[in-house]
Amino acid sequence: MTNKTFYITTPIYYTSGRLHIGNAYTTTICDVIARYKKIRGYDVYFLTGTDEHGEKVQLKAEAAGKTPQQFVDDLVVSIKELWKKLDIDYDGFIRTTNPSHVAAVQKEFSQFVANDDVYKGEYEGWYCTDCEAYWTESQLQEGHLCPDCGRPVHRTTSESYFFRMSKYVDWLTKYYDEHPGFIEPISRRNEIVNNFIKPGLGDLSVSRTTFDWGVPIVEDPKHVIYVWIDALSNYITALGYNSNDDSLFQKYWHNDENHEILHVVGKEIIRFHMIYWPIMLHALGLEQPTKLYAHGWIVMKNGKMSKSKGNVIYPEPIIERYGVDTLRYYLTCCIPWGQDGLFTPELFVENVNVDLVNNYGNLLSRSVSMVQKYFDGIVPNYEGEATPFDHDLEIALENAKKHYEDKLDSYQVDAGFKEAFDLLSKANKYIDDTQPWTLAKDPAKQKELASVMNHLMLILRAGTIMLKPILVNTYPKVLAQLGLQDIQYETILDKHAMDGSRVTKGDNIFPRLNAVEEIEYLSKSFKF
Ligand code: ME8
Ligand code: MG
Repeated sequence: MTNKTFYITTPIYYTSGRLHIGNAYTTTICDVIARYKKIRGYDVYFLTGTDEHGEKVQLKAEAAGKTPQQFVDDLVVSIKELWKKLDIDYDGFIRTTNPSHVAAVQKEFSQFVANDDVYKGEYEGWYCTDCEAYWTESQLQEGHLCPDCGRPVHRTTSESYFFRMSKYVDWLTKYYDEHPGFIEPISRRNEIVNNFIKPGLGDLSVSRTTFDWGVPIVEDPKHVIYVWIDALSNYITALGYNSNDDSLFQKYWHNDENHEILHVVGKEIIRFHMIYWPIMLHALGLEQPTKLYAHGWIVMKNGKMSKSKGNVIYPEPIIERYGVDTLRYYLTCCIPWGQDGLFTPELFVENVNVDLVNNYGNLLSRSVSMVQKYFDGIVPNYEGEATPFDHDLEIALENAKKHYEDKLDSYQVDAGFKEAFDLLSKANKYIDDTQPWTLAKDPAKQKELASVMNHLMLILRAGTIMLKPILVNTYPKVLAQLGLQDIQYETILDKHAMDGSRVTKGDNIFPRLNAVEEIEYLSKSFKF
């Protein structure tokens, strides 16, 4: 076992409404990566949580007739229920209303003030209530609209604290240049440099006096700290930074060859994670994360999901009908990592039927049935290559393992797991090529038949551990059918791993979806 640590985080989600499939996407991807790293022997800490302050939450709470605290408490209960349904195995759940987080952020803010990174000034400009962001005249869209959300902004003048972002911009661009893997995909970095750094990075207003649902500045409590300064800090306060017990911080907040920190975020919040967060850390004298990964969006045929369009998809109905592993599979494997991915009922049904039903489920039931039929359920021993197709299958397994690791180690999750499905698909083709039912008729071909059964079982065993990070509920069911207690990833090339195993036929792990019926069901329930 290694002593390598791996710290992975999701964005902390706003507690302003119900979470949808987009939030489930990021969280599932992080859960899958965390589970993969655990299989590979890393000491993993997986953090998620909630971003609970800000004017929007305050207004929503008022509208719901609740105090802001009651409102966020209720939402957090439902969010944790959702993560339970999705089998999200997080190690930490940070809430920005936790007293320990609040105290740590206040301390951090005082450090900024003491170091003259933050100063008090006067703000004059345009404010978007919805995005809680100030804009200069030149940043606005035509018609005085917010450049982020397109809603009208209003003119304000107010006392505000500012962070001297301008002081660090040269350091930041140098850091980008010297750390080419810091921001991925690289296109996001170019976007940030062209849109925010080249035009000149101004100082950032980091306090608000127009509402009070936030972290008060200790020295000047009519101000609350800007929600993004509060929210970004979660990644370190959750580990105990600025608290009495910072042992997790000491353990996981390192960035070197044995310690990795990965922030996964959606593409719309890269400005905060790629500019303000690195600068905040640098100002505090802390290490940078290893990598900021910006993924794309799940989009619908009629564009981005939005409540007004009525095309928002929620995970619960999909889990109820198809099971959690199927949704975890879809989110991990069918959205091109780093790019936008279209969600359609057609793509959903087609992918599930090809990968889960044909490549995996059918292979398992066919292979187990044959071992039962031809060898009384006992897997014959590995005796070297016997048919003309054995060699290629063994090479395919070696290659799949290598490419799976290369791709997942660089977080190309969809491509990484595709290696596993491709391997299973090759085993299905191997059945067609070797035709075990023909071999079985010929007593002189017993050796070949035994070899085919053994090879099929080796591939199933390998595919099963490779898919374990996604298919967490299916995994024990397949183990039972294969007659195994567990599978150690490092042993997947061990050719004798299945010798003598007693297989047992079980239920079909992924029953075929009827395309017509399921497309209709999905279209109806999501009003496409
Ligand atoms: O931005 N497709 O929280 P948020 C894929 N509180 N991912 C999506 C998505 C979609 N259509 N829609 C949302 C915030 N997401 C801040 C973050 S972090 C210090 C503070 C995912 O509730 C994606 O990860 O608006 C996106 O970045 C996140 O949800 C935004 O969640
Ligand atoms: Mg958002």
